[in-house]
Amino acid sequence: MSEDLFAGMTETLFEDKSILSEEYRPDDIVEREEEIDAYRIALKDVLFGRNPSNVFIYGKTGVGKTAVTEYITSALADEVDRRSEADDLHVHSHNCNDDTVYRTVRSLIHSIRGDDGEPFPETGLSTSHALETLYEEMDDRGGTFLFVLDEVDHLSDPDSLLYELPRARANGNLKTARVGLIGISNNYTFRSSLSPKVKDTLMEKEIGFSPYDAGELRSILANRAEKALIDGAYEKSSIALCAAMAAKDTGSARQAIDLLREGGDVAEERGADRIVDEHIHVASDRVQRGRVRDKLRDQTMHGQLILEAVARLERDGETGVRSKAIKDVYERVAVGWGHDPLTTLKSVQNHLADLTMLGFLERSERNDGRAGGAHYRYELTLDPEIVLETREAIETDPAT
Ligand SMILES: Nc1ncnc2c1ncn2[C@@H]1O[C@H](COP(=O)(O)OP(=O)(O)O)[C@@H](O)[C@H]1O
Ligand SMILES: [Mg+2]
Repeated sequence: MSEDLFAGMTETLFEDKSILSEEYRPDDIVEREEEIDAYRIALKDVLFGRNPSNVFIYGKTGVGKTAVTEYITSALADEVDRRSEADDLHVHSHNCNDDTVYRTVRSLIHSIRGDDGEPFPETGLSTSHALETLYEEMDDRGGTFLFVLDEVDHLSDPDSLLYELPRARANGNLKTARVGLIGISNNYTFRSSLSPKVKDTLMEKEIGFSPYDAGELRSILANRAEKALIDGAYEKSSIALCAAMAAKDTGSARQAIDLLREGGDVAEERGADRIVDEHIHVASDRVQRGRVRDKLRDQTMHGQLILEAVARLERDGETGVRSKAIKDVYERVAVGWGHDPLTTLKSVQNHLADLTMLGFLERSERNDGRAGGAHYRYELTLDPEIVLETREAIETDPAT
């Protein structure tokens, strides 16, 4: 009886699961006092009718760059509202992921014009035309504009934007409005790709976000867990375990939160009345598998088959294998799944070199003297069992 399929399902452990989702914006930021302080100082001129400093925020993924930026800019907007003498503040954010300068400016124009505004042409106009339109929109409204450019390192050819926009007022392109840029990046070396004049402008104030340690992740998680889970739905040690695992791996709060959410799913699936350490271990294993699957999926068919061959060799006790032996197993693996294998040793070696560069394999050079000469031996950097299971899943159910 299909209509009863979901009848017995209850959400037992989560009070509000969305609090553990990617979209959730926390009201409290913990463990970032120094960064918040530096941020406040950089932006405070907004309150007094002066140009704010441009700010560059850098740090690895999941360390709170976006969350803290949203927190700070909304606190600033609230303060501006409270002070009748302060100029209007307009905050507009854009994620630059693989965008051009033109499309970024266009999206800022749209953001200013609002949902009912006239769309700016997608093509056919120059970037400087787009910038002029942006300046007009800003001057029409007046006050201070803060533009948050998240993942700014993904922007192709950013120099023009990052140089012109902050100077718009000094150059007479803006008459009444003021502007401050907030650039956010995962990639610190991005700095060195910018021209010196841009670097000086954008990096007026730099704030680095370091990876979280286990103690910091614990307090971030404790806060979240209290709101997301019902009382008594988790053992404290399970939170500490998520924090410790994430701290050891990446120092990312996102990873720690994902582990807890996944652990809650595991506990529910098992009908447990609270989350315990065991559930977090299972969750971590799942997350890892998910990551391996995504990475494997991105590889070519032959790359995947070669990794599977190395995994089979390692499972059978052979680690540190030469390309010739890998090729033999690879051919059998390929035929077994119904694929035509590559025929030359050279082509297999090219794939091995690529997979090494991508971090799937580690390569060591050996010299067996006259018997073998100099050659490479390859080892998997991933758990061979996970690779084999993932490969099986990909072959038997391409939708996984
Ligand atoms: N200090 C913190 N206090 C509370 N939540 C945090 C903190 N740092 C990060 N988070 C949470 O962790 C997740 C990742 O943070 P995010 O700001 O998106 O990282 P980033 O932008 O650096 O990749 C988000 O869910 C965010 O709310
Ligand atoms: Mg972010």
